[in-house]
Amino acid sequence: MILRVIPLTPHFGAEISGIDVNALSNEVFADVRAVFEESGILLFRDAPMNDDQQVVFSERFGPLETTVSVNPAVGTAFARQSNIDMASGEAMDADDQRIFYQKGNMLWHADSTFKKTPSLCSMLTAREVPPEGGATEFASTRALYDSLDAATKKQLEGCVVEHDFAYSRSLVGFHFNDVQKAENPPARHPLVQTNPVTGKKSLMIGAHAKTIIGWPEDEARTMLDDLLARATEPDRIHVHHWRTGDAIVWDNRATLHRATPFDVTKHRRLMQRTTIANPSALAEYGQYPDISAAN
Ligand code: OGA
Ligand code: MN
Repeated sequence: MILRVIPLTPHFGAEISGIDVNALSNEVFADVRAVFEESGILLFRDAPMNDDQQVVFSERFGPLETTVSVNPAVGTAFARQSNIDMASGEAMDADDQRIFYQKGNMLWHADSTFKKTPSLCSMLTAREVPPEGGATEFASTRALYDSLDAATKKQLEGCVVEHDFAYSRSLVGFHFNDVQKAENPPARHPLVQTNPVTGKKSLMIGAHAKTIIGWPEDEARTMLDDLLARATEPDRIHVHHWRTGDAIVWDNRATLHRATPFDVTKHRRLMQRTTIANPSALAEYGQYPDISAAN
C-alpha cells in the first residue's frame, strides 16, 4: 500500500490516495495523521463508508462528540447535513425548520468552536450528492496567520475569543429557545492556536466568534470580520465539488469551511458528519472560567 499525497492548494489541503480508509494499519494511520497536522484538510476520493465504518475511522483521530439537540441526528455521533427526512427517506419541504437551521452552515465557520471542549477535526462523507450546487468551500487560518504583518500578530497574541452558537445562528434568523440556549452556553478560546505537533499558528475565528474579551465591542467585531474576510478571499479558498464516496477531514483549529446552496426542491443531498473532540486543548491552554461564573 503506497500512500500518495497531492496538495489541494499551494497553502493547505491534501488529497490522499492509495489506501483503504476502512482497513488502515497503525503505521499508515500515523502517516495520514502527519499529513493532517501539516495540511489541515484531507480529501479521500472513492472511499465509501457506512455509518459504522465512519465511526471507526473517525475514532482513530480522537473521541467523538455527540450531536446536540438542534441537528436532525440528535443524540448520535452524527451531524446530518441533508434535505432528506431520516424517518421517511423523502426530501423535506423547502420551508422546513431543519433546512432553515442548516443555512447557518453557509456562513464561514469552524465546527464546535462554541463548545468548552473544542473540536480537533470533523469528517464529512458524501452519501448522496446533488448533480449541481452543494459544494463545500474551505479556507486556512494558518495561511491567514502567516500572511499577517508582525504588528498584527503581536496585537492578536494572548487574545481570547468568545464563541456563541446562539449568536451565530441568530445571524441567519434562527433564534434559540431557552432550552437550546442552556444547552449551548458560550465558550472562550485563545484566538491564536498553536499546533502542538508542527508549532504552526492559526486563528480560531468564524461565524461563532462573537467578541474578543476585553476589547470594545465594535473594535472586536471589526477585527474578527476583517480577519474572516481576509482568510476567505476568493483566491485563497478551495472549493470542493462532491462525488458520492468522497470523505473530507478538516482541522477545526486551523481551517474554516462553509456550505453552498443547491436546489432543495429538485435534488437530494445527504452528508454525514462526525466530529472529533480535542480534550487535550484544555490541557494545552487551560480552561477559561465559565461565562456564567465570570459575569
Ligand atoms: C458541516 C458543514 C458543510 C456542507 O458538516 O459541518 O458545515 O457543505 N457542512 O454540508
Ligand atoms: Mn460545519
